Amino acid sequence: MEETKKTLLDDSFISAMALTNSGVPQVPDRYVLPPSQRPALGSSLATTETTLPVIDLSLLHQPSLRSRAIHEINIACKEFGFFQVINHGIPSSVVKDALEAAKLFFDLPVEEKMLLVSANVHEPVRYGTSLNHSTDSVHYWRDFIKHYSHPLPKWIDMWPSNPPCYKDNVGKYAEATHVLHKQLIEAIAESLGLEKTYLQEEIEEGSQVMAVNCYPTCPEPEIALGMPPHSDFSSLTILLQSSQGLQIMDCNKAWVSVPYIEGALIVQLGDQVEVMSNGIYKSVIHRVTVNKDVKRLSFASLHSLPLHKKISPAPKLVNENNNAPGYGEFSFNDFLEYISSNDFIQQRFIDTIKKISP
Ligand code: OGA
Ligand code: NI
Repeated sequence: MEETKKTLLDDSFISAMALTNSGVPQVPDRYVLPPSQRPALGSSLATTETTLPVIDLSLLHQPSLRSRAIHEINIACKEFGFFQVINHGIPSSVVKDALEAAKLFFDLPVEEKMLLVSANVHEPVRYGTSLNHSTDSVHYWRDFIKHYSHPLPKWIDMWPSNPPCYKDNVGKYAEATHVLHKQLIEAIAESLGLEKTYLQEEIEEGSQVMAVNCYPTCPEPEIALGMPPHSDFSSLTILLQSSQGLQIMDCNKAWVSVPYIEGALIVQLGDQVEVMSNGIYKSVIHRVTVNKDVKRLSFASLHSLPLHKKISPAPKLVNENNNAPGYGEFSFNDFLEYISSNDFIQQRFIDTIKKISP
């Protein structure tokens, strides 16, 4: 009780939802980006005509068509580190219920959400705003709740008790994404010429962090962002969005808006796959824009090897091609240590483990 009071009195924490609900006509100064980092909404730069890949995952389950899907995945991973998937097997009711639970959670009174607030990135369940409200120099127009999600029975009791449907609805979605992610990792290994079962055990025991994000309507979307450019530490991230807002950086360093496709899910390669593939695939740099009209919700499910398990380039990809390993090894925990003491917007984590070629 004392703790809760103290946190509430600490006025350094104001959620984006609270600002939107109070009807502020402008974003507070801490949200204003330097001109070079603003999203240039509506300019042709931000919305190039690039067509982003959409892959029908039902092909993976048809023996005569699997190799076609693997080929499409290979091209998408090489070109973008990104693709959308349809016919992914997660029922639309599961998706809808998870989004409903997230909406109800972010609509709760401030006091209720503050029970879970934390600036400690090692906390298995934490509510927050921006990236880290206590250390960010520029703030981002986003509130979030993040929680460990696999194995579910280990973590679910620590999840929000309110709204009452949260654990059930989000738990079902988390389990479904875990199954989907195993299928995707198999396909990605295969697309690299590795055994389908490469790292299977580590992946089964791996960690899953569900980041549930809320981007309320923003009075000045031209000068703020929901999330800054970054890549995810994960092996891969499965992203569900309620409306458009995500942008990815293409190979020409141009921002491309990811279209909203009803029923589709987004797959993004993270730093663990970049390292494992020895740089054949790159993790995708992405950011989130905000807008004046629609509140946007997203679920980013970040899958990775177990917390302390190091990932390194697959020996086959190093030896067969006579390549030197381009990366050192790292674990999810190494990433957490890095972001707790460094500004990961200034320098990407993956750049710290790249080997300089002689
Ligand atoms: C993330 C992320 C994108 C989005 O949580 O890492 O990039 O659209 N989210 O919310
Ligand atoms: Ni991300």
